[in-house]
Amino acid sequence: MAAAGLPLGCARGQPAQPVASLPPLRQQARAAGRGFGAAIRSEILAADPAYGALFAAEAELLTPEWEAKWEALQPEEGRFDFAPLAPLLAFAQANQQRLRGHALLWHEAMPPWLPAALGEGQARARGIMETHLATVLAQTRATIRDWDVVNEPIANPPGSDNPQPGDNPLRETPWFRALGRDYIELSLRSARALDPTLRLTINEYGIEEATPDAEIKRARMLGLLRHLLERGCPLDALGIQAHLQMRRPFRADVFARFVGQVRDMGLAVLITELDVREPDALAPSIEARDAAVAARTAEFVGAAVSAGCRNVITWGLSDRDSWLVKEPAVARRDGATTRGLPFDDAFQRKPMWQALAGAMR
Ligand code: XIL
Repeated sequence: MAAAGLPLGCARGQPAQPVASLPPLRQQARAAGRGFGAAIRSEILAADPAYGALFAAEAELLTPEWEAKWEALQPEEGRFDFAPLAPLLAFAQANQQRLRGHALLWHEAMPPWLPAALGEGQARARGIMETHLATVLAQTRATIRDWDVVNEPIANPPGSDNPQPGDNPLRETPWFRALGRDYIELSLRSARALDPTLRLTINEYGIEEATPDAEIKRARMLGLLRHLLERGCPLDALGIQAHLQMRRPFRADVFARFVGQVRDMGLAVLITELDVREPDALAPSIEARDAAVAARTAEFVGAAVSAGCRNVITWGLSDRDSWLVKEPAVARRDGATTRGLPFDDAFQRKPMWQALAGAMR
């Protein structure tokens, strides 16, 4: 990280180097034995060669933002479609990038047929899970070596955003309703049996910050991980999404302790979907806004890296294409562009980029 009080990109006693001339994040992270990457959507890649060039230069890890979700891969029962994913596989191969598969089981991005079919009994639900895993993992075996097997399994506690009533630590998804809490173990065991060297990850949001809700979700996640490992269930990593929100407090010590607890179980921890949601009332200048986002990023990624996270992935590269701008559920109500990613909408490196570079070095 840059020495306190100095402009980033400027080491003590040395002249400042223009930010645009610094090596890309991909290179800076790799030089420190770490990995930096981002999520990407193939339609943006197809529409804009400049974006492809930026992504190839800056990212070593690539997560398809939509193309490996269930609704993309199996839109109708038994009809698998790998066409949307294919350009991303080819792009990653051409640019020596590592792919992360996202996500095998999730309660969102389900095609309409799926929740209904899962309601038709346990045997049927298991069969559907097996077929999806077997087909997808066979097809992507050569290209994707790390999958989010289960995405967002932990329930939001009562009183939080999108709460689940009651005290079930697990989210009551169509998978949970069909198979009970064992759906997680079943999917992990099945993935391991289908591909013994595949890296198996559980991915979750809302477990980073210093809020009472996040504290409950952390405890619930630790409980789930302990339960799985005690039963000898295969699992390699915990993915921490890190959709950070400036309106929520962050405490490096609290977060680092959690990462340490998970690593002590023998699991790797990685940051899978980092972005920063700005506060409702924006600071008056772009400079002040960007400085605040960068400071939060430096604090968060600094804590993650010191606690042993080797890989950091942002949820997109440029504010222009962020889900924080395009997705009504999370977009700003005032219509302003959220500046929560490392590049602005003209692909210029922002202070958040410098914060990432500093923390990953
Ligand atoms: C989001 C995508 O970014 C959007 O484009 C899509 O419409 C909805 O999903 N957690 C996840 C991601 O695990 O898959 C989500 O991605 C963001 C929250």
